[in-house]
Amino acid sequence: MSGHESTYVPKTGVEKWLDTRLPIVRFGADYLALPTPKNLNYWYTFGAILSICLVTQIATGIFLAMHYQPNTAMAFASVERIMRDVNGGWLIRYVHANGASMFFVAVYIHMLRGLYYGSYKAPREMIWILGCIIFFLMIATAFLGYVLPWGQMSYWGAEVITNLIGAIPLIGEPVLIWLRGGPAIDNATLNRFFSLHYLLPFVIFGVVVLHLWALHTAGQNNPVGILIPKEREKKDMVPFHPYYTVKDGFALLIFLMMFSWFVFFMPNALGHADNYIPANPLVTPAHIVPEWYMLPFYAILRAVPDKFGGVVAMFGAIGVLFILPWLDTSKVRSMRYRPTMKIFYMLFVLNGLILGWCGGQLPDAQVVPGMPSFTLIDGQLNSYLWLTRLATLYYFAFFFVILPFVGLRETPLKIPASISEPVLSGPDAMSGAVPAQAEKKG
Ligand code: HEM
Repeated sequence: MSGHESTYVPKTGVEKWLDTRLPIVRFGADYLALPTPKNLNYWYTFGAILSICLVTQIATGIFLAMHYQPNTAMAFASVERIMRDVNGGWLIRYVHANGASMFFVAVYIHMLRGLYYGSYKAPREMIWILGCIIFFLMIATAFLGYVLPWGQMSYWGAEVITNLIGAIPLIGEPVLIWLRGGPAIDNATLNRFFSLHYLLPFVIFGVVVLHLWALHTAGQNNPVGILIPKEREKKDMVPFHPYYTVKDGFALLIFLMMFSWFVFFMPNALGHADNYIPANPLVTPAHIVPEWYMLPFYAILRAVPDKFGGVVAMFGAIGVLFILPWLDTSKVRSMRYRPTMKIFYMLFVLNGLILGWCGGQLPDAQVVPGMPSFTLIDGQLNSYLWLTRLATLYYFAFFFVILPFVGLRETPLKIPASISEPVLSGPDAMSGAVPAQAEKKG
């Protein structure tokens, strides 16, 4: 899996015996000795942090499942029982619930890091695509999990999202009934959601293994974004252990401190108060909102006036990530050397935050009630909807217009000949630089 020649030499008799039968120690040793670019910054620690997030979610989830009841009459009470009566239950539940949020914080940073340093470009398209599959599965798993406590937001969130399927022409209705296990959200729905919520993290685990396999086949990118030629490996690379085990470990410690702050001091800050009210199909909450990490996509869904159009836009917003490697026309990977693109990138991040904020507002919230959204009042448009639509437009324009166009037109900065150069040669580092063109794909 490492794609690098093995340097492991079995020492003891047991190691030699095992090595000829199941070379698992060799596999681990090779992994730790893996030559890694020596300029990886802290943005590169999020892969390791994500691995720990996944393991934490699976471990806490298994313990929760020992006490949870996937039955509409008992689900809510079984969660409350976990919180009050099960030894350490409150901690396991709060780690699991806040862990989902932390997982998404880490994955968004990890994805934006990949976007900034052009880690999706050749030869790393497969790493990126597998990452997109993981992201999609994470969203599905989080949605299914949120239904399980059977609170008001669980029930109505499931109602809104499954209803979207019904908007698909011709096949929508039968698929909706098949998905819910009946015409309405009921016991069959809760059971299948529980079953799938338990299953999907293991599927994610499998895709992560493929993600890392692809990573070690293509080799890790780095903040400069250039490929490291074989002859420079000795100068520009260091073994993964101890250099990156220590760096990843330190970053993980800081991350876990932030995680613990939420778990111990504000465990419900990231959730919704309405989910502490048992599900009631007869009372619709005033404002149905998903968890914060889904809000940007929820905003895109609502930006389109037509229901089916909204569904297409929402899935399109995730789908476009899959084809990203072929939308970016620039030969330069890292945005460090793409000053124009860097500005559009910053706007993209800001735009994501705006979309998230819009997703949390009432869709038709108006400055002056009763007036149409697009009426100008004191020079301002009369609804949040205009902002949501503008932000949605920028989201898609970034991928379909800006990335292809800027890549063709911009003049990138000169790229250093090696990753050591900017660090070791001082301020004149760029003197030996080669033009962007010198960096071939692949
Ligand atoms: C459970 C979720 C995930 C785990 C455990 C995971 C794990 C990792 C690890 C350990 C690395 C190497 C260290 C690093 O670069 O940070 C990595 C690299 C990478 N990941 Fe992920 N990843 C996950 C999700 C994603 C997602 C959702 C995407 C994008 C859609 C993605 C895209 C990438 C890319 C492009 C690289 C190569 C980075 C480079 O070489 O510059 N990953 N991942």
